[in-house]
Amino acid sequence: MKIKDIRLINFRNYFNLNITLNEKLNILIGQNAQGKTNFLESIYMCGTGRTFRANNEKDIINLSKKQAYVGANIKIDNFNRFIEVKLDRDNPKTMRINKNPIENNKELSSGLNVVVFSPDDLSLIKEGPSKRRDYLNREIYQINPLYNYNLRKYEKVLYQRNNILKSNRPDREKKDLLEVFDLQLVKYGVYLIKERIIYIEKLNIIANNIHKKITESKEDLFIEYSCNVENSKDLSYLEKTYLEKLILNREKDIFNRTTSMGPHRDDMIISVNGNDLRTFGSQGQQRTTVLSMKLSEVELIKTEMGTYPILLLDDVFSELDKSRRKYLIESLKNIQTIITVTDAIDIRELRDIEKTIFTVKNGFFKIEEEGIIDDY
Ligand SMILES: Nc1ncnc2c1ncn2[C@@H]1O[C@H](COP(=O)(O)OP(=O)(O)O)[C@@H](O)[C@H]1O
Ligand SMILES: [Mg+2]
Repeated sequence: MKIKDIRLINFRNYFNLNITLNEKLNILIGQNAQGKTNFLESIYMCGTGRTFRANNEKDIINLSKKQAYVGANIKIDNFNRFIEVKLDRDNPKTMRINKNPIENNKELSSGLNVVVFSPDDLSLIKEGPSKRRDYLNREIYQINPLYNYNLRKYEKVLYQRNNILKSNRPDREKKDLLEVFDLQLVKYGVYLIKERIIYIEKLNIIANNIHKKITESKEDLFIEYSCNVENSKDLSYLEKTYLEKLILNREKDIFNRTTSMGPHRDDMIISVNGNDLRTFGSQGQQRTTVLSMKLSEVELIKTEMGTYPILLLDDVFSELDKSRRKYLIESLKNIQTIITVTDAIDIRELRDIEKTIFTVKNGFFKIEEEGIIDDY
């Protein structure tokens, strides 16, 4: 899968940008606050209908305008696909594939797969379990749209169950209501657990392999699922166990006014050489691990979807040491990649690789001659 060209209108600090991308490597060089991340965000928007920045979607619209637009021509083998997203200050977002309106982000994500690696991704390792659950949900959803359906159903039932627990009803009445809601929670919950286990098993094998190569076999990466229900892929066994645990914890849940058991409390344990990376890892180890996980995502998408996704590396390339950079470059041969850097010196290892270099300044792109890095 490759992006041939992309057009941005009133998208953050871009008023009208029309860019043909290199099908292999694209480098964006620019000082801070010039629009590098904004550009990556526009590609992510085409692939997911969302922004990877934690803010309101409408913030994307240029401050002085009412609407924003991004349209990308995608090439998949011999097919072409034209994906468009339009944001409006006063109306809901609209999306089209080949000029046909589509209903939701799910349909959009089947049109373009993207993997982003930005400095924020370190939070995947450093922060609490909810970051890792979000990550899992996002990744599984990219390759299995049914997962999202079950997740939404689960979250809705969980919300209703918690409302019952928080209400002022007598305990007897609460228990009667929970009988019904517990069955629903189990129905959707076990699906999530099973899919997460399957995903993490695959991720673990690929990531371990990649991590060994990156660290020259010095580090053994292990990713496992931590589930408070049961680590099993057997749905009927999971159903039975989950229901038992809900019933067992019913009194406690009524007392605490919240649901203690289920995949909404799960986590993913990431360890290197047997030590939990969250508490024991150095900054460098954490960064390398995220890189291994991102490259594994790329491979998993290739396996599941039959085509490589687009890889976006925002401000992370220059943070890696020389051997990591070398490994990264070698593994990117068949993958369309966009790398942002603030300084040309950061890309000197890329001298002999086919690529297009753009300098980004205040919402404008300029194609650079190769000569820009020959001086280094
Ligand atoms: N909705 C918007 N309208 C106009 N400018 C915006 C909008 N959102 C962000 N910007 C501008 O975009 C710039 C930041 O762009 P960004 O892509 O994050 O920079 P960087 O090149 O450092 O990655 C800032 O100058 C900011 O003011
Ligand atoms: Mg940036």
